This record gives sequence, C-alpha cells and structure tokens, in this order.
Amino acid sequence: NATREPPLITGWLPFIGVTLDYVSNPLGFLRETQKKYGNVFTCKIAGKYFTFVTDPFSFSIVMRQSKNLDFQKFAVGFSHRVFGHADFSSSLFSESYREVHSIFRQTLQGLSLQQLTETMLSNLQMVLERGLPYEHDWLEEGLQSFTNRIMFEAGFLTLFGKDAGFLQADGTSGTRIWMQKAVQDFLAFDRAFPLLAAGVPIGLCAEAWQAREALAEELLHDKLHHRKCISDLIQRRMDAFDRMHLDETGKARTHVCMLWASQANTLPAAFWSLYYTLRSVDAFTAACTEVNRVFSGQLINNQDQTLCLSREQLDSMAVLESIIEEALRLSSASMMIRVASNDFTLTLDSGQTADVRKGDYIALYPQLIHLDPEIYPDPTEFKYNRFLDEKGQRKSNFFKNERRLKHFLMPFGSGASECPGRFFAVHEIKQFLALTLWHYDLQLRDPDATLVPDGTRAGLGILPPSRDVLLRYRRKTNTTTE
Ligand code: HEM
Repeated sequence: NATREPPLITGWLPFIGVTLDYVSNPLGFLRETQKKYGNVFTCKIAGKYFTFVTDPFSFSIVMRQSKNLDFQKFAVGFSHRVFGHADFSSSLFSESYREVHSIFRQTLQGLSLQQLTETMLSNLQMVLERGLPYEHDWLEEGLQSFTNRIMFEAGFLTLFGKDAGFLQADGTSGTRIWMQKAVQDFLAFDRAFPLLAAGVPIGLCAEAWQAREALAEELLHDKLHHRKCISDLIQRRMDAFDRMHLDETGKARTHVCMLWASQANTLPAAFWSLYYTLRSVDAFTAACTEVNRVFSGQLINNQDQTLCLSREQLDSMAVLESIIEEALRLSSASMMIRVASNDFTLTLDSGQTADVRKGDYIALYPQLIHLDPEIYPDPTEFKYNRFLDEKGQRKSNFFKNERRLKHFLMPFGSGASECPGRFFAVHEIKQFLALTLWHYDLQLRDPDATLVPDGTRAGLGILPPSRDVLLRYRRKTNTTTE
C-alpha cells in the first residue's frame, strides 16, 4: 500500500535530489524536514533513497530490526571501495569474514582490553617523556598538532607493536622519522575521506592514494612479523587473513582500515576533550583535582617515575569521563546506516507505520538528539559536569517529553554497528588527559577565540576543528626528577 510509504522529499534536481541542502547543513536540513513532515521521511541524496527516522524513542526499534536491516552490507562495501582490500561481502569471503569480525569483540573487551590499556599508558608516557624538555621555557605548538602527534604514535605502537629500532630509540632513529611521516600520511588520507565517502574513486585523489599505500607498505605482514608487542587484535587479524589466503597488499590494506578506525575519531575526540578542559576554568580545576587525587603519592614509591592507572582508578575518574562525553556530544556527527534486506513495515514508537522497500537505506542521525535543547539545555554550550549527578557520579537519566531516553548519547553508534573500540577509546583519552594535565602546565594562547567543528565532515564521525589553535606548554616542576 503506497500510502504507508514515508513522505518522499525529492528536491528540484532529478539525480541530486536534496543532496545540496543536506550536504551544506545536515542538522539544519533534517530539523526543518522533521518539522514539516514528521518523524520519518525519505530523501533522495546523491541518487539513493535514505529513509530518516528522527524520533529518539524509535531508535531502538530500528536497531532491533537486524533481520530486515543489514549493517555489514553497507559498511563492508564502503570499506572495500575506500581501503582497496578484498570485497568481504562476496560469497567467497562472507563465512571467513564473520570470524574476522568476531575478533573485534573478543580483543577489545575483557583481558585483552586490560592489556591494551596498560600498553597504551606505557606508550603514552614514553612519547610524552621524549617530547618533554627539562628547561622551564614555554613551548608553543598547535593543540591539534600536539594531540595528533602524541595520540597517533602511542595508539599506533599499542596496536601494531614496536619495531626493533624503536626498542633502542635514541631520539633520532629512522623509526621516529617514519612515525612523523606516518602521521602526515594518515592525515592526508583522512582529509580526502569526505570525497571518498561521497563516492569519488581514490584513484582520482592522488595524495590520498599515495598516503594510503605508504601506510600499507609498513603494515605488510613481512614487516609486522618483525615487530614486538603486537596487540591481540592485530595478531589475530593477521592469522585470520593468512588463513584466508588474501594477497599481501590486500592484507596490509585491511590493517590500514583498522588503523583508520582506531584513530580517525579518537584524534579529534582527544583534541576537543583537552580543548574544552583548557577553555573552562571550572572544568580545568575539577579535572586537575581528580588527576592529583589519583597520581599524588605514586612517585614516592616509584624509582623509574612511571605512573600507574589501574582499571578501578580509570573508572573512578568521573570528571574526566563527563568531560569526554560532553566533548563527544558536541563534536559527534555520525550517521548510522542500515540497508533493507527485505520489503517490510517498520512500526515506530508512536504506532505510525512506514513501508520500507528492499535496498532502501534507513538512516539515524544522532546529532538530532545530542543538540536537542529539550534533552540538553543550552545544547551548544560545553558544561563539564553535564554527565555527573549531584553526588558526582555518572548521570544517565535524560528526558524528552518527560519520558526517559534509552539513547541519549550515541557517538559510538548502537546495535549491530556499535563501535567495538569504545571502551578502549574512552580509556586512552582519559589517560591522555590525565598524563598531560599532570606533567604539563598548559594554556591556550588565545582562550577567548571561538572554534567550531569542521562541518564538511558531517556524517563521518567526530568532527575535527575547522582550524588549529596555539597551545603553550611546559613541564611542571613538581613532576621532574631534578
Ligand atoms: C565502528 C565511533 C574509536 C574500532 C565505529 C562506529 C562508530 C565509531 C560511530 C560505527 C560506524 C558505522 O556505523 O558505520 C568511534 C569513536 C571513537 C572510536 C567516536 C573514538 C572517540 C575506536 C577505536 C577503535 C575502534 C579506538 C579500535 C581500537 C572500530 C571498529 C569499527 C568501529 C573496528 C567497525 C565495527 C564493525 O564493523 O562492526 N566506531 N570509534 N573505534 N570502530 Fe570506532
């Protein structure tokens, strides 16, 4: 019955549909369309039909439709096109890829997560220590460049291990120079991501192609075999790809894909978390108090000056967690997409029904919730304690229309596509904040300047800042060994 199909918003250009309106301001476009047409509507974007469900109470209904709505089909096809690895959605690989996919959950939780988190703490300290001159002069660097440099290197080493040269690193080794190039290659590839996501073949983005291939070159199994302390995640993926008899370049490109997944959102999320902490006196004071509580006294019993952060201590850092969640709320603009594998009828929370045709895309846009003033008063303002209750514990009761929301914060997606790295991501950003606040005096050069997220990446995850801002920093005297 055609009358139960959601309203179709076609725009005035036949192929383009509403693409231009959507691309120039997705949130504004979706809010306007929701006002006019209600909680479910279909738009033609770049030649494809997307049915948006905008009511947060219906999100779990969409999530539960895994029989009719497929996540893998879209994600795996997309990844094949952008990263150039084998097409795991083909019948040739679909069975063995299921095993590869299950590795995420097995190695990013439980004991493996514990191991990963400990390795990250030690790598972060190593990277910070190396860049930490003892003189007391202030250094200046872009905050984004500072965050990218530290988090990329520590995260890379944590997943892919260290090469032999690194183990004897003396500050000028070839490995260090390679790492500086790797972060540049990563960023060059990532810059092209909006174009690649829009369907531009990577062959037309010469710089991105070269950057991707340069990263893959270092992630060939022959080279990875020489690295020490590789994470369970990567080791088990290597074994699985070897069993699948992929070609060597294809295997390396799947590792570039994993590198991208582990860094592309983490770097801007770490940036915003530190940026907002430094901009707000209240946030800064509360964060430093929490960090001091955890670290004070540790060094007295510790000859080699390494700091420890147990799982319990990480979990007890509720202020840092709230800062990170608030930064994610403000900067996340991901889109969750499912492909209808059958014709079926979706019954929304309100009882309204919508017929969906096989092949249609169903899309959720969590930013509609994150910036909803009814759920979050003054939604564009950073409030460091927004996710804390009166007792300073994690707050999880948020309401719309006086009904409690199950999904109020979704930077990591939900259901079948929920990010398997979410626990590690929050741990590593907490560690980064704790260590930098503990070791450095940090100031924004121009704290009153406003900075906005780069909207050209809307739909692709955590938005990076539209430009870098200058950071002044120096080693704190209370943590030196002089
Ligand atoms: C998928 C967000 C960090 C590994 C996703 C998705 C989101 C997301 C929204 C779903 C994408 C989709 O629907 O297509 C984030 C954010 C992060 C972060 C906001 C940091 C703040 C990480 C880290 C890792 C990781 C650190 C690994 C170490 C993955 C993987 C997938 C994924 C493997 C694909 C899962 C699948 O195919 O089922 N992430 N992520 N992420 N993320 Fe994350």
